[in-house]
Amino acid sequence: MSHNITTQLSANSRIQEVDFNNIGFGKIFSDHMFLADWDGQTWTNPRIIPYGNLSLSPATSAIHYGQSIFEGMKAFRHEEKVLLFRPRDNWRRLNQSADRMVMPEIPESLFMEGLLALLNIDRNWVPGSDGSALYIRPFMFATDDFIGVKPSEKYCFAIFTCPVGPYYSKPLRIKVEEKYSRAAPGGVGFTKCAGNYGGAMYPTKLAQAEGFDQVLWTDPITHTLVEETGTTNFFAVTENGIITPELHDTMLAGITRDSVIQLLKHSRYTVSEKPLSVSELKQQATDGTLKELFITGTAATLINIEGFSHQGNYFDVMKSGNQDVSNMLREKMNGLRHGLLPDQFGWIEVL
Ligand code: COI
Repeated sequence: MSHNITTQLSANSRIQEVDFNNIGFGKIFSDHMFLADWDGQTWTNPRIIPYGNLSLSPATSAIHYGQSIFEGMKAFRHEEKVLLFRPRDNWRRLNQSADRMVMPEIPESLFMEGLLALLNIDRNWVPGSDGSALYIRPFMFATDDFIGVKPSEKYCFAIFTCPVGPYYSKPLRIKVEEKYSRAAPGGVGFTKCAGNYGGAMYPTKLAQAEGFDQVLWTDPITHTLVEETGTTNFFAVTENGIITPELHDTMLAGITRDSVIQLLKHSRYTVSEKPLSVSELKQQATDGTLKELFITGTAATLINIEGFSHQGNYFDVMKSGNQDVSNMLREKMNGLRHGLLPDQFGWIEVL
């Protein structure tokens, strides 16, 4: 299906004001954004307009009851081309979140046409330097101005983009979280809904006050099994292969996680998705069989974990380990995303 996307171009591009050698993460926004409205029956008024504030009623349902979901994905530059990494997987996951949050489905055609039209207009905003990318934030939120608790009838679907550098600039020190939980069985942990991130901020703040960068979430029932960090999925490289916690409805099915698993299998590494206990990790860190810990996510990409703390004991994995697998994966992921390696997996869409 073809959507009739209207376009209002910005009169003054802000691109000349941007120091592309110093972009940080998430504070600089490209010139335009894509919007479409769900009127209760259908998606209407797909449009590209200059990036700017939205005007909302104070009673906007998303603000009060949290029907608000999002995605994160990236585009990369290869000479004059713009390469998108697995955008249709983000579209699929956005709709899984929408279904759980009783929000309307976004047709693939609307998602992709809006995205491609926006990227074509703002293609000069895709940075080219090492470690940089255009971060793309598709999101949907409830727009009814009604304060009864029920699914909204109206919604806004939007996409904006930001040129970004690395989300994390160094290996992380993480704290195994045993008191607070990110999600519960039967809950919304597998969705990318706004509340999952808001709810994680307090335990993260406590961990940061103790000198850690992030929390390592454990299962909400026993707090003995590792799940994910506040912003990423989690991998352990051991002498006997690579382990990542198997997915449950309390965890986000990361697209970078899946890419890494496929890359590892393709390179004939043994990789298992299975329960991974904190005690197993501690034992392996102590006897030297744990070689590397790393985390994966769209924003974070692939970053090493220096070490983890559990009940006041710190296990410095980097000191005795190496970074062989994470370096190999980082190189492959970068090569694929920047079009420097053949796209054997069909992950790249070129603009
Ligand atoms: C992403 O990795 O794209 C996310 O949405 C995580 C967020 C913490 C930036």
